[in-house]
Amino acid sequence: MMPALFLPARRRALLNAGLLLVLGVLGFAPLAQAQQSLNIICSVQAEWCSMVQTVFARTTGIKVNLVQKGSGEALAQLMAEKANPKTDLWFGGTGDPHLQAAELDLTVAWQSPSLPQLHDWAQQQARQSGYRTVGIYSGPLGFGYNTELIARKKLEVPKSWADLLKPQYKGEIQVANPASSGTAYTMIATLVQLMGEDKAFAYMKALHANISQYPRSGTGPIKNVARGETAVSISFVHDGPGEAMQGFPVRTITPAEGTGAEIGSMSIIKGARNPEAAKRFYEWALTAPAQQIAAATRQFQLPSNRSAQVDPRVPDFKTIRFIAYDYARYGRSAERKRLIERWEKEVGSLPR
Ligand code: G6P
Repeated sequence: MMPALFLPARRRALLNAGLLLVLGVLGFAPLAQAQQSLNIICSVQAEWCSMVQTVFARTTGIKVNLVQKGSGEALAQLMAEKANPKTDLWFGGTGDPHLQAAELDLTVAWQSPSLPQLHDWAQQQARQSGYRTVGIYSGPLGFGYNTELIARKKLEVPKSWADLLKPQYKGEIQVANPASSGTAYTMIATLVQLMGEDKAFAYMKALHANISQYPRSGTGPIKNVARGETAVSISFVHDGPGEAMQGFPVRTITPAEGTGAEIGSMSIIKGARNPEAAKRFYEWALTAPAQQIAAATRQFQLPSNRSAQVDPRVPDFKTIRFIAYDYARYGRSAERKRLIERWEKEVGSLPR
């Protein structure tokens, strides 16, 4: 048979049309569509990330390439690739580094027509970033504890920030490292707002004596609590029920003095190679059905879309004592950088 290249133009066109028909019947999308893809950094837990990847790809035919990174690490990657961005969209993770990315001009403004469907805190996050980010979920910071270990070691359930300094918890507490984890930065910002900066640093230095480890990822500590490797963690309380559903003896509590909450956010990257696909994902991720994927993958943040169903395991915000977290201030680039550096110098490097 003659190679297609040498066929007369009309016959070649017919052959190509036939090929496309066969591919169509076999369920292959035409080439142009098959090439549509989207590169996401995902800063929630792996199960949610991969479900989002699958459902979005199935709904739109757009292939999603995804890497999972903690909020601080995600920001570091975006800063490193600023001149030649490989990422189109950043999904999830605490809001402060998303605000920092907005200020550093790493992300673009996009005012979604769905904004009015979102809770005020999610819209506020968008407004204060000049629409360069938006809230997709929220959740309170608190403590996780292993009920069996607490009982076996005859420890009390910690009920306040002050309790965590008690000598009985020496080597029994974990919190993530704020350089990589947005959860841990939320703790620093919360304590600074609650106590004033110098007292908060004195507190974190004293707490250091009771800390066994500062894992890289925000969920590391509660996973270690679940598996009995440590008795107590400082964690988002919405990360507790997912561990308990897997049969681990984990409970959570929020501190009596008050606590902060994250506004988990989403941003489109400046210079994205696939800006249209990124916008399509952004709009999809703000819909109620897309936000319900969180609970379906055992992650119990409060969704930002008012119409999304709220799973009964989502923490009840009305029963929690919150500080008035100043998102604008603690999302400021210089402030976040300064506080993390101060933590590394004065706390993280101390011997134990
Ligand atoms: C978990 C929580 C999210 C949070 C994220 C931050 O996935 O469920 O609500 O945004 O951690 O991760 P990081 O590693 O930056 O603390």
